[in-house]
Amino acid sequence: MESEEAVRVPRRWRSPLRFLLAVLTVVVMFVVPSAAATGVDAVRPDRLLLYATEDPATSQAVTWRSEVPFDGELEVAPINAPNDVTTFPAQSRDEGGYTYFRATATELAPQTAYRYRVGGGGITSSRWDTFTTASTGADPFRFLYFGDTQHGGEGIDPSVAAGLTAVPDADMAVSVGDLVDDGHDDAQWQDWYDAFAESRTRGMRHFAAVGNHEYDDDDFSPLWGLQFPETGNGPAEDDQLRETVYYSDYQGVRFIALNSNYRTVPEEEREEWLQTQARWLDEVLTTNTQTWTAVMFHHPLYSGRPARNNVDIRQAWGDILEEHDVDLVLQGHDHSYSRGNLEANQTDDEGVHTGPVYVIANSSPKTYPSSTENWRVYDAVPRVQDVARPAYQVIEVDGNTLEYESVTAQGHVLDEFSIVKDATDKRVLDNRVAGSAES
Ligand SMILES: [Fe+2]
Repeated sequence: MESEEAVRVPRRWRSPLRFLLAVLTVVVMFVVPSAAATGVDAVRPDRLLLYATEDPATSQAVTWRSEVPFDGELEVAPINAPNDVTTFPAQSRDEGGYTYFRATATELAPQTAYRYRVGGGGITSSRWDTFTTASTGADPFRFLYFGDTQHGGEGIDPSVAAGLTAVPDADMAVSVGDLVDDGHDDAQWQDWYDAFAESRTRGMRHFAAVGNHEYDDDDFSPLWGLQFPETGNGPAEDDQLRETVYYSDYQGVRFIALNSNYRTVPEEEREEWLQTQARWLDEVLTTNTQTWTAVMFHHPLYSGRPARNNVDIRQAWGDILEEHDVDLVLQGHDHSYSRGNLEANQTDDEGVHTGPVYVIANSSPKTYPSSTENWRVYDAVPRVQDVARPAYQVIEVDGNTLEYESVTAQGHVLDEFSIVKDATDKRVLDNRVAGSAES
C-alpha cells in the first residue's frame, strides 16, 4: 500500500464543511508549527491500535486514522532514553472519509519499554503512549481471549470491560472474528474501539482473526486490513489470506491466525483456498520453536450447534491440529460457550486428557442455544458448555504450565483448566467444571 496524499483530491473535500476543515488544517499545518501545541483536536489522530508482528520482541505495528491527510510517521523512543527518538514513515490509504495509517517500528530491543506517538506534517497525536517489547525467552505473561463481540444494537457486552478491568496487565487481547455485526459499518467499529477504550488499544496489543460478519457475502470489509494490517508471513498466494493469516511468536507461544471464511470463496476455489492455509499451517507448526501453540480462527471445528457443521474446515485442518498437538484452538461464531477435545485423547484419569483443547467463546450479548451433538458425531468430547452467559477468557502462560479461566461479567467462572507439559507428555486437567456438557 502506497501513500496517496501527493496526488489525490479527496472525495470528502466536496462537502463544504469538510472543505472548511481542510482549509483550517492547511492553516494549522503551515502557519502553526504543531497542532498539538494549539490543542486543535479536530486533526488529532484517533483509533490508535497496537497490532501483531512476527517478532514482537524487536518490532511493533501501529495503526491509526485521521480526518485529514498528511505524511504520517511513528515516533518511538526507549522510556529510559526518551529523547532518543527513531521515526518510522507510515503508509496510508483513504477510506470512508478518513485517512488510515500503518507503521511498524523495527530493530527494537527485546523486553524494553518504549514511548511512542504518531503524527507527521506538523500534526501529532499530542500524547505519548507506551508499549513494551516481548522478551526473547519464555517469560510468564497473561493474555485475554474474546469470542464474538458482535452485537445487534444492545452495545458491546460488559464481559469485555470486565476482562479489561480484571486483567489490565494482559499483554494482548485475542479476538476471533465477528468483532462487529457489519464489518463495513464505521459506527460499529467505533463501538468496538470505545469498548476497548483508547488506553487499551494504545497500550495493549491486539491479535485478531476474521469472522463472517467482517464480510458482506463475499465482500471483505476494507476496514479490516486498515485496522489490522497484514503481518507479512501468511500465505503469499492470495491477497485476502496474506492480509488475514499470520503468526506471531510471543514469549514461548506461537500465535497463529487462520481465515475460516471459506463460504465467501467461489465453490470451485474453496478446497484450494483451505488447502493453501493447511499447507502453510503445517509448515509454521513444523518450524515452530516455541513451547506453546495457540491457533485462532472463527468457525469452530466442533460446533455447539448441529446446523453449523463446518465440515470443510474440519477436513482441511483437523488432522494437522492433532498431528502437531496444538495446545489451544481458539474459536467463536456459535454465540455460546463450549470446550472439549477428541475422544481419542481421553486418558484413564478422570478430568484429564491430552492433545489439543478446542474452545468456542462468546463475548456478545447475542446468545444461541448449544448442544453436544456436533461434537459427539465427530468423536469429540464437549467437557463444558454454557448457553446464555457471555464471558471473557484469561490465559496465563508460565514455563511448562498454562492456566485458563473463562469468566462472566458478573465474575462467575464458567470454565477452568490447566495444561502441564514435560519433555514427553502433556496433560490437560479440568480444574473445575462449572457447567455440564450434558445439561
Ligand atoms: Fe460468525
